[in-house]
Amino acid sequence: MSAVTDPVPVFQRMAVIGLGLIGGSLAAAVRRGRLAETVVACDRRYEDAVLGQQLGVIDEAAQSIAEAVSGADLVVVAVPVRATESVLEQIKPHLSAHAVLTDVGSTKASFVAAVEAVFGELGPNIIPGHPIAGSEKSGVTASNPDLFAHHKVILTPAENADPDKLAKLTRLWEGCDATVLTMSVAYHDEVLAATSHLPHLIAFSLVDTLAGEDQNMDIFRYAAGGFRDFTRIAASDPVMWHDIFLSNREAVLRVIDHFSRDLDQLRTAIADQDSTTLLKVFSRAKAAREHFSKMLSGQAYVTDMSQNQVTFHLKPGGRMTGDIRVPGDKSISHRSIMLGALADGVTEVNGFLEGEDSLATLQAFRDMGVTIEGPDSGHVRIHGVGIDGLQAPRGPLYLGNSGTAMRLFTGLLAAQPFDSELTGDESLSKRPMGRVADPLRAMGAVIETGEAGRPPLKIRGGQSLTGIRYEMPVASAQVKSCLLLAGLYAEGATSVTEPAPTRDHTERMLEGFGYHVHRSGATASVSGGGRLTATAIDVPADISSAAFFLVAASIAQDSDLTLRHVGMNPTRVGVINILRLMGADIEIANERDIGGEPVADLRVRSANLKGIDIPEDQVPLAIDEFPVLFIAAACAEGETILRGAEELRVKESDRIQVMADGLAAIGVQTTVTPDGIVITGGQTMVGGTVDSHGDHRIAMSFAVASLRAEGEIEVTDCANVATSFPGFVELAQSTGIQIVAEGI
Ligand code: S3P
Repeated sequence: MSAVTDPVPVFQRMAVIGLGLIGGSLAAAVRRGRLAETVVACDRRYEDAVLGQQLGVIDEAAQSIAEAVSGADLVVVAVPVRATESVLEQIKPHLSAHAVLTDVGSTKASFVAAVEAVFGELGPNIIPGHPIAGSEKSGVTASNPDLFAHHKVILTPAENADPDKLAKLTRLWEGCDATVLTMSVAYHDEVLAATSHLPHLIAFSLVDTLAGEDQNMDIFRYAAGGFRDFTRIAASDPVMWHDIFLSNREAVLRVIDHFSRDLDQLRTAIADQDSTTLLKVFSRAKAAREHFSKMLSGQAYVTDMSQNQVTFHLKPGGRMTGDIRVPGDKSISHRSIMLGALADGVTEVNGFLEGEDSLATLQAFRDMGVTIEGPDSGHVRIHGVGIDGLQAPRGPLYLGNSGTAMRLFTGLLAAQPFDSELTGDESLSKRPMGRVADPLRAMGAVIETGEAGRPPLKIRGGQSLTGIRYEMPVASAQVKSCLLLAGLYAEGATSVTEPAPTRDHTERMLEGFGYHVHRSGATASVSGGGRLTATAIDVPADISSAAFFLVAASIAQDSDLTLRHVGMNPTRVGVINILRLMGADIEIANERDIGGEPVADLRVRSANLKGIDIPEDQVPLAIDEFPVLFIAAACAEGETILRGAEELRVKESDRIQVMADGLAAIGVQTTVTPDGIVITGGQTMVGGTVDSHGDHRIAMSFAVASLRAEGEIEVTDCANVATSFPGFVELAQSTGIQIVAEGI
């Protein structure tokens, strides 16, 4: 809420010590928003305080610090960082016991040190602050009440900080339309050294170097936009920056060393005409920059992505028509990066899924030193480093929401010479990893898991693995693939037997890369010690994403929808088999094979579905499609029974319970069993609000349900749809679902 509409001032009398750009802008914003009854300021140059008063930036110009501070219930120190201590000395005798004391300096440890020197300790009323906003202009005349709008302000309160005072200071900054974050002093200083102080140093240094060149006039005359953008900050206040570098010396030196090393590496690469290193660094930087721009959305400091709330609003009814291609297969996209990275040569991928999950895999391989160009409209070029070419990542590999990435990586990393750590988001952090850690340990891997076998995983490098024969207790393609990947590095043969057929993309793709996989019945084996040869991969459209549209066009009236180039691997077609058993009208045309994976075009038309007893052997073949199959069951005539599907409880959410709750929320009662569900079709879907629990497939399933609902459906927590299906909302809209997404 903007402060303009809030007439109750947060403070009575705010004293600003130092009326430069930041002090003046805060004063102006506080006055405009009536956040303090009176704003008084003093400045080293009294004329500037008087000027501030004439400009309407402050109410009163004080002649001294003593005069400004007396009677103030908020004192803001806005002087150059190195002047802080002497200013605090002058503030101390006049500071009321109840007043809040804060600052706006760019380094926080130095402010705390100055406070400790003057006051003995950081008392509960002293709360350091730092608005992440600025301008290359300086002085009171540059005061701008909008300077902090849509910017971050970082407060670094000590543990003993008075919560009421902290809340008031937060309200004051929020009243200036800033977003307030809190963090520790040390963390603040590290982050700022890297994101703000180093870039300023480089800008100052670069402009200085070029200005010293003989042809400097020409250099500046011909300077292109890039130079201007890049060096804008070299026009910032020299005294202020001198102070900042000396105050945040340790953290700044650390990042300068880091940067110098990397710059040297680039110098060598250019000297040696080493295109691989240049391409690697540039494409990694480009990808990181694009990733940041998404997150930053024009702001100076990142927001917590978990606060990114997306809600789907769905109007009831609609018919499905069109001719579409859904995005690339997630399982195959992950594997294309993994095997491409380990291969000798350059692997070209087309149809790559640019969803958050497969992008997490791509980023993780970049972090392990692999040069990957793209993705660019589904096209990716992976410069393979060979089976032994991965390098230690600098920090933990963050895999977001992706269980596939985490489980397959564990097998691969267990065999590397370096240590690694795998982390994920809230949902992934709850998922069982013992299923991969246990058999890998039997091969000789050293893996530490979090509580109850959950992430994070710490993998000790340098172990020599030995092949095992493993009978999987659960039918899991992720476990199978994990062990086969570890088996590439193990001594002897590694064989995995599955209790029921699971997706075999790893086996097919290994063959495509020239690595033989021996398959006999339910067992797949590899022998360690071979090499992979780069290849071309054409990723089919994901049948798991197509599933939403297969069900949508089946349940909506007068529908006729064509889905192109859909992956039809026999281990994935459970959804088609089940829908056909329910009476769906799905025509399969143009069946062909691309790079070892079958694909086809599917035409689906409305049908009167009927309830069935789902054959248990179809469960692993449709494991990801049950959420939307439950919607089909709810629209069918009669009862649908699912058994033998306890695995659904450990997916991105407990998909049995979360779907049952969601169905209940829109008026459909079900009976949940430990390993399945019973759904009686034909109940009226009255509409309502469904919590998707951050599970992408739950969110999309209820979007499909709207086609047969009688009232509006709202689905919350939908941001994760981007993990598997970027562009879902637009594609759903264009084919007939009346969906609007809020919060994207
Ligand atoms: C996947 C295997 C399946 C599936 C997941 C992707 C894969 O998991 O649910 O979405 O790419 O190997 P499980 O192996 O745990 O069944």
